[in-house]
Amino acid sequence: MPTLLITGANRGIGLELCKQYLDKNWEVHACCRNPKNAKELNTLADKNKTLTIHELEVTDEAQMDALKKALKNKPVDILINNAGVHALGASQFGKTDDKAWEEAVAVNLIAPMKMMEHFVENVSISDKKIIASMSSKMGSMDDNGSGGAYAYRATKAALNAVMVSAAHDLRHLDITALILHPGWVRTDMGGPHGEISVEQSAQMLRKILSECDISDSGKFFDIDGTVIPW
Ligand SMILES: NC(=O)c1ccc[n+]([C@@H]2O[C@H](COP(=O)([O-])OP(=O)(O)OC[C@H]3O[C@@H](n4cnc5c(N)ncnc54)[C@H](OP(=O)(O)O)[C@@H]3O)[C@@H](O)[C@H]2O)c1
Repeated sequence: MPTLLITGANRGIGLELCKQYLDKNWEVHACCRNPKNAKELNTLADKNKTLTIHELEVTDEAQMDALKKALKNKPVDILINNAGVHALGASQFGKTDDKAWEEAVAVNLIAPMKMMEHFVENVSISDKKIIASMSSKMGSMDDNGSGGAYAYRATKAALNAVMVSAAHDLRHLDITALILHPGWVRTDMGGPHGEISVEQSAQMLRKILSECDISDSGKFFDIDGTVIPW
């Protein structure tokens, strides 16, 4: 049975990915900050024996270490760095909030890097050997036609750079490192006017993840499977 490890799994795209992978008979390790309050995940766990919920504030290295211990020797076919923040307090020119910037850097950039470092061995002993980070088209310079969203754009662009380096550095382990744009999705972050539902996004993300191979490592994929210019 293939295994998924995913962060930020209590709502939005992360939660829907858990549901869909469970439906496909995967073992799912779903991380969230507050398992007690993760109502939907707990309901899913009641119905699915292959779902395990783990407490993980992604900026808390002690919790990440504990998760690493809990998953010792467990092959992880796909690691998805999904947790992210929009950092609205660091969005507008002239209104820079240091704390919002720091949170965006910690959650959107440093945490995915540390997740890869913590779980690279688990991924390397799996069949599929995929690490995917949820980036955003907003991290593309080419696509930036409207400005603003300073910290969000900057941290997603930097995450892309991290993933390209990881693609090179982990190639000897046969690990495919992917950068994914999930579409403009109707979630708390994407808002009610997003172009696609979480169900559509997760379905299309799964398609990309199921069709990719090592030749795709380091690529920045749009939700339709096309490559996004940097
Ligand atoms: N929605 C879109 O249109 C869109 C477009 C492009 C890219 N993305 C990316 O896709 C990913 C998922 O987005 P979404 O729309 O599903 O967002 P969302 O509905 O706002 O959910 C964000 C998730 O990240 C978790 N999270 C935030 N900070 C965290 C932290 N410090 N530690 C652990 N978990 C943390 C949240 O947990 P809590 O519930 O505990 O806050 C929540 O589970 C993000 O990386 C986002 O940047 C989304």
